[in-house]
Amino acid sequence: MCGIISVLSLKTKIANCLFSSLERLEYRGYDSAGIAYIGIDAKLHRVRSIGTIDNLKRAARELSIEGYIGVGHTRWATHGKVTEVNAHPHICKGVAIVHNGIVENYQELKKELLKSGYTFESETDTEVIAKLVASYIDNGIDFQSAFKHAISEISGTFAIVAIYEGAPHLLLGVKKGSPMAIGFSKDNQNFYIASDAVALSTLVENVTYLEEGDFVIAEKRDTLTYKVLDNLWSETSRKSVPNRVSLHDVEKNGYETFMLKEIFEEPKVIRLTFDKFEYNLNTSKHKSISIIACGTSYYAGLLAKYWVEEALKIRVDVEIASEFRYRDPLLSADTACIFISQSGETIDTLSALRLVKSRGYKVIALVNVESSSIAREADFVIKTEAGIEIGVASTKAFVAQILSMLMLCTDRNSLAITEIETSVRTVLNMEKKFIDAARKIMSSNSLFYIGRGPSYPVALEGALKMKELSYIPAEGYPAGEIKHGPIAIVDEDVYTVVIAPLDKYFEKTISNAQEILARNGKILLLTTEGAKNLSYDFRENENVDCIFLPQLSNPVHQPFCLVTAIHLLAYHTSKLMGYDVDKPRNLAKSVTVE
Ligand code: F6R
Repeated sequence: MCGIISVLSLKTKIANCLFSSLERLEYRGYDSAGIAYIGIDAKLHRVRSIGTIDNLKRAARELSIEGYIGVGHTRWATHGKVTEVNAHPHICKGVAIVHNGIVENYQELKKELLKSGYTFESETDTEVIAKLVASYIDNGIDFQSAFKHAISEISGTFAIVAIYEGAPHLLLGVKKGSPMAIGFSKDNQNFYIASDAVALSTLVENVTYLEEGDFVIAEKRDTLTYKVLDNLWSETSRKSVPNRVSLHDVEKNGYETFMLKEIFEEPKVIRLTFDKFEYNLNTSKHKSISIIACGTSYYAGLLAKYWVEEALKIRVDVEIASEFRYRDPLLSADTACIFISQSGETIDTLSALRLVKSRGYKVIALVNVESSSIAREADFVIKTEAGIEIGVASTKAFVAQILSMLMLCTDRNSLAITEIETSVRTVLNMEKKFIDAARKIMSSNSLFYIGRGPSYPVALEGALKMKELSYIPAEGYPAGEIKHGPIAIVDEDVYTVVIAPLDKYFEKTISNAQEILARNGKILLLTTEGAKNLSYDFRENENVDCIFLPQLSNPVHQPFCLVTAIHLLAYHTSKLMGYDVDKPRNLAKSVTVE
């Protein structure tokens, strides 16, 4: 959520690295962007624009961006609208700040600063930081100490980088709650502070992840040096690790969008997850399981509930992290708490994890980013093998999550992994059918996704993907629940995606579909080959379209190809409507604010 890149260099050519990293960081926020740098004229310069990095580059095209130090930011708006004035960097008297996260006490700080004569131009919380640092400098304190004092006054979760015209040799950063990664270029000519390793993918070979409360102070003399200070301001060392993010991971590799690339990677993710999975759940110790997550990861938990309860015969509760953490949850030592998160940085999930740990219980994390905060704070980590996911809507990571959960409760020899993988490939080869279906769906006023049993969480995931990408209101429901209220909405402008593989729920789901048809609703039936020869009279109905997906020999495995199907459907609906699939409006990958 918001992306940060900054560089301190022995050379003056910093523009390329700022812009190319910002392009890579766009997935973290893309409302607006900006850079600030101290030019070879020793002055602080700033360019900002709303929208994409292309807009920013256009705004900067008249400038020859040359200097030894600069910061860049892509924004996901929290405080203040999407305007150029609210875009980062925020500056005050030669201090430039980029910030990821939230300053919770900014109103009080702002009041004090206003009293002292400082004026504000933006509606952001970030501007307070720039003013606060500048106010200390105004009082005769050096930049480094001013930054330290200012940080000690702000509360909230954040990653902040600062530069100052009066100390162009210093690049300062602090991490509290939001991730921060640092590293040197291979030739040691550049030092970077960024919000994640993706920003640094082509820039550094080794990356160091800062820990909670860490400050980083990088200095340019004849060479570049840096030190990390812990939250008590004592020098400390943090391990550097190879930067595993490769160019291949952060490029589209011939696909039109990252999301399409990532959907087409789903079969590969299935194979890799299966090959690398080596985790066990201690079922003699655990009498129940609590799964805690947000969004798509929460739906992965809901699907796992069906599998785990059936396979292990232990109770599974699935909880939305943002609700869980503000209740007083009943926990016990024999409950295994599993936190699912693609990014490993979702603050709601991380806070819920901290709550469980504070009660003295051990926690398990199922995460896709090994270096993430959730992975680092968990007692036990299950790494999903989705690879880097850039598309804001999670796709392949969801597949890795559900397979990992299935493998936690199933003997690996009983998994028909080749059949699962092949069936998903078959669905990908049916892409044209989803484009045709999307063409019909795109003009509907609203959508329902319904399913029973494990197809219900698939319906929830389908509806989430559809609404976040196409902006058509879409709700997922258990098929049997639709008649208890939601059916009131159904008319000829409402489409329902009925997820009904041929399984023990099939006939009941079809009956619910009939109820929708009886009210002139339109239906896209996602079913399986096995249902082709059954007679259910509505197939000839002009309001019904059917897509037959591969029938898997074990019904437990069926959700995999249903998931790929609903991903393709949402993708193509959004594409046909002309939206930016990788950057749906109002969203960002990795939600590090509450
Ligand atoms: C939807 C989506 C989000 C995330 C949610 C949790 O496509 O991507 O709903 O699933 O923000 O994110 P993680 O899994 O990173 O904790």
